[in-house]
Amino acid sequence: MKLINIALDGPAAAGKSTIAKFVAAKLSMIYVDTGAMYRALTYKYLQQNKTEDFDQLINTSELALTYEEGKGQRVILDHKDVTDYLRENDVTNNVSYVASKEPVRTFAVKKQQELAAKKGIVMDGRDIGTVVLPDADLKVYMIASVEERAIRRQKDNELRGIESTVEQLEQEIAERDHYDMNREISPLKKADDAITLDTTGKDIDTVTNEILKMVDAI
Ligand code: C5P
Repeated sequence: MKLINIALDGPAAAGKSTIAKFVAAKLSMIYVDTGAMYRALTYKYLQQNKTEDFDQLINTSELALTYEEGKGQRVILDHKDVTDYLRENDVTNNVSYVASKEPVRTFAVKKQQELAAKKGIVMDGRDIGTVVLPDADLKVYMIASVEERAIRRQKDNELRGIESTVEQLEQEIAERDHYDMNREISPLKKADDAITLDTTGKDIDTVTNEILKMVDAI
């Protein structure tokens, strides 16, 4: 078994987390969902009535990720498991704003780098190949058409009991991508040495196998 780190970046709802989970399971690696960290801090931002004091928000935050067998990643914020709140619409609609703030990014990136220090990690996000793990052994930049991404997210939401429509999701996804790609600090972009993987029209097995082949080729 190779001891490696895999960086998986790409726009919203491109299938990163689903594929990362499968790849990690196949390779006995740990899947780290970095978006959940930004979502947890957004949850706190909303609880603090959209505070603009991001230094205070960070300085008073204790954020831990846990990885218990069978439970996947859980996000513990200020000693409370907030994982189940992180996909709510309010969080999704504010997370790009919160994630664009410097104190928030510095805090999250440091934690992500600590988690990956021992290797054996599949990490997904927006800046993993460019900023968090520039030395990752494999970098994949995953894309899919906006239409397909909205349909996938709608199915996800139905399973989670979150109300939405495909049209609304298409608009939200496009807006979030635009914000993530155009922010000043660590914008979403493909690392020069990342492999682009278009998942449009492909099922989970196909995409997982394509990545496993890339790992074999390392
Ligand atoms: O991946 P997910 O959709 O949960 O990410 C939520 C948001 O968190 C993204 O739209 C982006 O604004 C931010 N994010 C980020 N950097 C990462 C992961 C997520 O800025 N590495």
